[in-house]
Amino acid sequence: MEIQPRNGGRIDLGIGRPDLALLPFKELREAAERYFSLGDVTCLQYAPLAGAPSLRESLADFLTRHYQSRVTPEHLFLTAGASHGLDLVSGQVAKPGGTVLVEAPTYFLAFKVFHSRNLRVVSVPTDSEGLDVVALENLLEVERPVFLYTIPTHHNPMGATLSIERRVKLIELANKYEFFIVADEVYQLLNYFGQAPPRLAAFDHNRVISLGSFSKILSPGVRLGWIETAPELFSKLGQCGVLQSGGGVSPFTSAMIESALALGLQDTYLERVRNVYGQRCAHMTQVLDSVLPSSVNFVHPTGGFFVWLELPESVDSNLLLAEAHDANIGFRPGTLFSPDREFKNFLRLCFAYYNEAELEWACEQLGRLLTRYL
Ligand SMILES: Cc1ncc(COP(=O)(O)O)c(C=O)c1O
Repeated sequence: MEIQPRNGGRIDLGIGRPDLALLPFKELREAAERYFSLGDVTCLQYAPLAGAPSLRESLADFLTRHYQSRVTPEHLFLTAGASHGLDLVSGQVAKPGGTVLVEAPTYFLAFKVFHSRNLRVVSVPTDSEGLDVVALENLLEVERPVFLYTIPTHHNPMGATLSIERRVKLIELANKYEFFIVADEVYQLLNYFGQAPPRLAAFDHNRVISLGSFSKILSPGVRLGWIETAPELFSKLGQCGVLQSGGGVSPFTSAMIESALALGLQDTYLERVRNVYGQRCAHMTQVLDSVLPSSVNFVHPTGGFFVWLELPESVDSNLLLAEAHDANIGFRPGTLFSPDREFKNFLRLCFAYYNEAELEWACEQLGRLLTRYL
């Protein structure tokens, strides 16, 4: 298909963000108009450490409906997004020099958070179903982590979702070896095909610190998310100096989102992006199935943003990237997702940022490139 790459530049399938054209400008304007018509000034004041109580209430209601499992406001601590939640836990629950376990591969920017908090990062193997709990159990014979960081549903970059059996085993190990599970569940509500297993916090509130975010279900620019965990942990989280000085995060934005929730705009927006991303996911994987050489493998994702391609062992996707740029396309090389620079013969593609025609064009280019290269 002949299309003009957006802005005349390349189509970078490595970009892991929502499409600007889909972001909820209209919805947030409506939410703000409603809020200002109410004449309530509380959002212009400092908020309690765990965040605006009324948003925690309406968020608990929203999550209960969408997770189809009860969430209470007492278990929600508002954050400025999942990244902030991760930093808060890394700074308040762990101590410098402490060990954290991560999946190999994992979300690459999580390393930056762990390193800036002087934590020691140790990788745990995965397979096509996510975290390898048997390998984890073996590792726990020698390592004493403060927490394990995992992306259990629609993993970034792998797209994998951890089965219920593995979730149960993981909780059992966390209880036996006494570590926290920091579950990054930002893609939990972006399920397109079939049903995702319940979020990890539904299995155990005492061991699981679940990170959620409005970034993927509404807008990254609002910088608002939440931690769902046992309220006993809140005093630890609230010892963070920034929160003590500035109060709970973003009361003003919280009020706009609370208003969007009250108007049902978050519900309808979530349904809309789920449909659009689901169609993009199905289209991209269908095109990849038809254009990729048979030596390239991938697992079809059922949600989230990403497809993780496995190339033959001999290929280095970092070297392939220069040729991809010549063909006006891009991707994220696999080594980015490992502190030990493993996964050199893997690459990550995202289907959320571009429309179907752009995805099709870029995947066809990639197919041609790989057919030539391999
Ligand atoms: C697994 C994962 N965690 C966290 C984030 C960042 O989330 P937030 O914008 O809420 O900080 C991303 C964004 O790409 C992500 O993929």
